[in-house]
This record gives sequence, structure tokens and C-alpha cells, in this order.
Amino acid sequence: MSGFPEGFVWGAATAAYQIEGATDVDGRGPSIWDRFTHTPGRVSNGETGDVACDHYHRYREDVALMAQLGLDAYRFSVSWPRILPDGTGRVNEAGLDFYDRLVDELLAHGISPHLTLYHWDLPQALENAGGWPARSTAEAFAEYAGVVVARLGDRVRHVATVNEPYVVSDHGYRLGSHAPGRTDPQAALAAAHHLLVAHGLAVQALRAAAPQVATGIVLNFHPAHPATRHVLDQEAAMLAHDQVNRWFLDPLAGRDYPEDAVRAWGWGREEVLDGDLELIAAPIDFLGVNYYCRHVVRSPLLPPLEVELEGELTEMGWEVYPDGLVEVLEFVASRTGTLPLYVTENGAAYPVDGDPTRDPERVSFLHRHFAAARTALERGVPLRGYFVWSLLDNFEWAHGYGHRFGIVHVDFDTLERRVRDSGRFLAAVARDGLPPL
Ligand code: FCB
Repeated sequence: MSGFPEGFVWGAATAAYQIEGATDVDGRGPSIWDRFTHTPGRVSNGETGDVACDHYHRYREDVALMAQLGLDAYRFSVSWPRILPDGTGRVNEAGLDFYDRLVDELLAHGISPHLTLYHWDLPQALENAGGWPARSTAEAFAEYAGVVVARLGDRVRHVATVNEPYVVSDHGYRLGSHAPGRTDPQAALAAAHHLLVAHGLAVQALRAAAPQVATGIVLNFHPAHPATRHVLDQEAAMLAHDQVNRWFLDPLAGRDYPEDAVRAWGWGREEVLDGDLELIAAPIDFLGVNYYCRHVVRSPLLPPLEVELEGELTEMGWEVYPDGLVEVLEFVASRTGTLPLYVTENGAAYPVDGDPTRDPERVSFLHRHFAAARTALERGVPLRGYFVWSLLDNFEWAHGYGHRFGIVHVDFDTLERRVRDSGRFLAAVARDGLPPL
């Protein structure tokens, strides 16, 4: 018994900058990730997405691989600077043509396209004009959303606005570890709010241009568990939960920002205009959940502790913690009720050891997380599908090419693709259901 309902969607996910390459062809404009990766010291080994998997030229081969694996769906993102090289205004038809061909190729193979509009590659022109801390970027995003669905909305049934606004604002504007590499906490708070405004404005634009398209957003979640039973660790864990898991979900679910977290960040809410909270909480059709690991939280008021993680770690240093997937899905459903949920990302990086297509750790990782998803379903969570991160080994942001998440191995010298055991495992689960653990 597989335990997954009829029609459950199995797929794999990617993002434009991580796989496409071809950053300088067919009229694409520069993005903040081009600028960031070409700034010395930002990315491991000075690596860039200039070539990546060259998916832009090899998408047919990649779709054929997905078809070979029997995937129901493919989650990918559109590169904003391919469509609007200056961020707003002039539309680059050649950029739209690429996604047009990709979508047709997917549909010809019976694979349903799940499109994400923003997976982190902001046009550099918009960063120059203030980036996400400026409200005008949210308005530009709505324009872009309208342009994309006007072309693809007749064939694409699922469109997510933003991928992981937490990571965009926190890593991009507070920590500076991601593009655009700014380290300004107040700018990060402004960015966070404007990403939700962008979502709300884009939902309006999408509904107007293509009412038949299901619209949602993708958030990342980490259960935040106290390092010890000390009351201060428990308080620190609750605060981390509010800052990471509730900050975006609560306003989307009509609850406003979590108060303790607003106070802890020292946010004066200057960016919140009349009507914003209603705009952000406008109904959507699905929510995407990205899950990788939990956070074990130590209070900064207590002496530092070597936090001993109980389980295994992946190459990212992330704990393998499948129960956390049940926990986050139940938490999200506590806010969203019957709203359809998808696991839009889950997966793991492991070093290649010998034959790069043998990946028993990844198979085991996925097996346990699929089982966790089934547990969540049994507990009543309206989970509709599951996308493994990632279809291909790819450009893992500040880590460059050293961390491989693919269910398909990519040789970055020859760009040859080879399906891994984990790819075959996903194919078997999609076809026959989940084997016993
Ligand atoms: C997520 C990102 C995705 C990928 C995974 C490992 O935060 O959305 O692009 O890098 O992490």
C-alpha cells in the first residue's frame, strides 16, 4: 500500500539561475546573481552561473529525462531579467520564447509545469533602483507577473509568486551571504514586507490576466527546537519559530506579523501602508512548503553550548530530520486549513564517492521524508504533491558547484547527465507507491 492518494503529484524542482546558464544570450539582462557571482570572494572558488547545467540549450534532454523517470510535474522558475532585461518596461520576446518552448516540451511529454516567478534573480537594474527594500520593486514584480502569464497562462496551471521570501530578505539584505550581499537589518525588514506586497500585487495581476491559473507562494520552514529544557532556550526557540516560520505565513493567513518577532527585530513597521495586510492575505489556491532540516536553538543569554545534533548530517551540515516534515506540514495546515499544500522542495547534498550515480544516502533520505509526508497525509494534512530538490546537480548559490543535490548527476566538464539511483527511486515511488521503510 503506497498510502498516497490517487492523483498525488510527484515531481522535481530547479531554479533558473541554478541551471540555465546562457546568461548573456538572446537579450537577457543582468541579474543580482550575475553581479554577485562575479564579485571576488562572494562564492566558493569564484564559481558563477554563467554556464551552470546549460539547461537553456539542453532543456529538451532534461525534459526527456523527466519523462523517462515518469514524473508528473516539474517545478522551475522563470528568469525575470530574460523577460524584462531592465526590470520593467521593455519586454524581451526571445526570453518568453524560451519558456514557451519549455512549457510545450513538458506538456508534449505529459509533465505538468509548476512555474515560480521569482527564485532570487532580481534584475540588476531594479537593485540599482533600491532593490526589495524599495516598494517600487513590488510594483515592478506585478508587471512582470502579468507579462509572464499573458504568454504562458493558457498552458501553465500552477504559478507561485516568490520562492522563500525569508531567504531573500535575510540572506540577501541582512546577512549578505546571498545577492545582493547587503548587511542592513532595517533594509532586510523592508525587503521582507515588500516581498509580501509583491506577492499580493502579483496575485491580483495573475487573477486579472489568467483567472484559470492556480496561484500560490513558496515558503521555507524549519522546526525550531530548544537546545536544552532551560526556559531561556525554550523562549529563544519560540522566537526563532516566530521569526522564521510565522513571519511570512501569518500575514498570508490573515493574522498580521507575529508581535514578539516584530519587537525582537526592532521593526517600526514604517513600510506597512493602509491596505497592505488585506492585500497580502488575499485568497490563494495553494501553498508551497520547502523543508530541509530543523534548527536547534540556544539562547544568546546562556553560555554557548556545543549543540550535539543527534542524527546524521548532510554535506550542507544540515541534520537529517524527517519528523520535522510532519511537524511543519501540520503547523502550516494549522494556519491554512483546507488550502492545498505541496512540498515544493526537499532533498539533500551528499559528496560523490566513486560511481556518481550510486547515492544510497540520498535514496534513504528521500525514502524517510516521503514516509513523513505520508504520515502528514494520514493526519489530515491536505498535501497534494511532492517535488524533490533537485532534478539536476546545479549551482548551489554561495556554495557554487561543490554541493550536489541532483537525482541526476551532472558532469560539469562535459555537461553529461546521468540518472542516479535516487532518480530511479523517485520514478519507482511515482509508479508503484512507497516501499516499506
Ligand atoms: C533552498 C533554495 C534552493 C536550493 C535549496 C538547497 O533554500 O530554494 O534554490 O538552493 O535551498
